[in-house]
Amino acid sequence: MLIKRRPGWTIPEQRVTPEAVVLARRAMLGGAGAVAVAAPARAQWHLFGGAGTPATPRQPLAAPRDAKYDGGRPLTPEKDSTTYNNYYEFGDDKSIADAAQALPIDPWSLEIAGMVARPRTIALEDLLKQVTLEERVYRHRCVEAWAMTVPWTGFPLADLVKLAEPAAGATYLRFTTLADHKTMPGLTHSWYPWPYIEGITLAEATNELSFLSVGMYGKTIPKQDGAPIRLTLPWKYGFKSAKSIVKVEFTDKRPVGFWQQLQDSEYGFWANVNPAVPHPRWSQAQERLLGSDEMVPTQIWNGYGDTVASLYDGLKNERLFA
Ligand code: MTE
Repeated sequence: MLIKRRPGWTIPEQRVTPEAVVLARRAMLGGAGAVAVAAPARAQWHLFGGAGTPATPRQPLAAPRDAKYDGGRPLTPEKDSTTYNNYYEFGDDKSIADAAQALPIDPWSLEIAGMVARPRTIALEDLLKQVTLEERVYRHRCVEAWAMTVPWTGFPLADLVKLAEPAAGATYLRFTTLADHKTMPGLTHSWYPWPYIEGITLAEATNELSFLSVGMYGKTIPKQDGAPIRLTLPWKYGFKSAKSIVKVEFTDKRPVGFWQQLQDSEYGFWANVNPAVPHPRWSQAQERLLGSDEMVPTQIWNGYGDTVASLYDGLKNERLFA
């Protein structure tokens, strides 16, 4: 288990946990006694035909780097971005990397559903044959005020939208992620609204920055970071970047995300990064870089305003930043 010495400014865990969760958890623990969390079973580690044990290194996944997306700051050391995670299905703290090795990722398929020409389920291998992988370095800003800079391998979400052939009235994408009771101990925590859902508009999904990642640092994505396929939306707070996606639904109804369902006033639908709009319980002005623990100023739209700000023209009455 990773033990990290936290500098004094770090948000204590209990302040980060949404109030609604704390209250629901207290009520439940008070009534029913401590909830036993089963130790996750170890699963075989296969991906795209590879086989092995949980300790087997990830498969190489080289793709040409698109220099347009360079992150603008040094890469976060891989050991830091792959050992300090949020993946609540495996636990409430940051040290879930070992537990996440139980995630069953092979075979994996993606259901394309809702308002599309042809609802269907595609095996991940087949999907990957229809897209071109590239590497992009993106900044990631968690709503908890930590940040990282990571080389992701993947493909534009716009390519999936194209393959899906959305119907004329579809305006949102709703992402559902894996909820596997056999391997995910967090699912026994019934105060959370499983499965983890996230949503964005179709306009956001077809913006060039929206990315579906299947790799990190030139290898397949680690389980703890959302294997085998996750969203990467670098101008939004990290909770919008759903991990281990199993279903993409096209809809005309605005999806309600996991955190939004718990506490809309703290984790709204849009969740665009803005240092000038504090979280109700802490400032968003600065962020702590994983690895160095250096504090740096947070940028509006996480620095991606040139590419995404125009998406929000005309949405002045929406709560775009919290
Ligand atoms: N996706 C699922 N399925 N479950 C989660 O708990 N956490 C979110 C997001 N995607 C989460 C998720 C949050 S809060 C963040 S900040 C990022 O994943 C963290 O990604 P990382 O662990 O790769 O840094």
